[in-house]
Amino acid sequence: AGPGPLAGRTVVVSAGGTREPLDPVRYLGNRSSGRQGVAVARAALAAGATVRLVAAHLEVPVPGGVELSTASTAIELDAAVQRAAIGADALVMTAAVADFRPAEYVESKIKKSDDRADPVITLVRNPDILATLVSRRAELGDRGGLPGLIVGFAAETGDAEAGVLEHGAAKLARKGCELLVVNQVGGGLGFGVEVNSVTVLAADGAAPVTAAGTKDEVAQVLISMIASRLDADVHR
Ligand code: PMT
Repeated sequence: AGPGPLAGRTVVVSAGGTREPLDPVRYLGNRSSGRQGVAVARAALAAGATVRLVAAHLEVPVPGGVELSTASTAIELDAAVQRAAIGADALVMTAAVADFRPAEYVESKIKKSDDRADPVITLVRNPDILATLVSRRAELGDRGGLPGLIVGFAAETGDAEAGVLEHGAAKLARKGCELLVVNQVGGGLGFGVEVNSVTVLAADGAAPVTAAGTKDEVAQVLISMIASRLDADVHR
C-alpha cells in the first residue's frame, strides 16, 4: 500500500485456473495462465491498494507485496475467496473456475479396464463463487462485510457479430455483479497469451468501456475504473 488512487483500499483478485481431480494423477483443467489476474493484482498494487491475491494454478510468478492465498479446486477457491473478501472494497474474479467436477474421486489411478468398456466420467456442478457472493451480500445485514464492488470476467467464444456482448449482458444480469469484463477467448485470444481485448459492461447502465493491449494495459484501465467508482462512492 502507498500513495495512489487506491491508497487505503483493499482489493481481492482471483487468478489462474482451477483443477478438478479425477484420480491421484489426472485432473480436468483449463488454459488460464493467471496472466490477466496477476496483471490486475500488479496494477492494484501500483495504485496503492492492499492486494489479496487468491491464486489457483498460475504459469506466472506471484508479484511481491500481495497477501497470497492459494487454491487448487473450485471448492477450495470458493472458500479462499469468501475468506479474503470480508472487509475488502472490491473483488475482481479473473480466475477461470471449472463449472463442473468429476462426481467421484478415485483414490488409486484409474486403470485400463479388463472388460474393455470405455470409462465414463460423470460430472456434477461446482458452486458459482461469484453468484453466491452476490446473493449472500444481498441477504446479510451491512452486506456481511462483503465488497460493494464485485467485478466478474466473462470468457466468451465468438466475436462481436456472434453476440459476445449480448451473452455478456445476459451473464452480467445472471451473476448480479457490478461490472463484467467480457473477453473473447479461443482462436489464440484470451487464455495464456500476453494480450487481451475486453469490453467492460456496467450493471448501473454506464456506457461500456473497451480496452485492448497487453494484459497490464487492460488491467490499468480496469483499475482506473475501479478507483473512480470507489471514489465516487457509488458502491458504499
Ligand atoms: O489467465 P489468462 O491466461 O491470462 O487468461 C485470462 C482469462 C481469459 C482466463 C480471463 O481474462 C477470464 O476471462 N477469466 C474468467 C474465465 C471464466 O471462468 O469465465 P466464465 O464466463 O466461465 O465465468 C464468469 C465469471 O464467473 C468469472 O468471473 C468467473 O471467475 C466466475 N465463476 C465462474 C464459474 C464458477 N463456478 N464460479 C465463478 O465465480
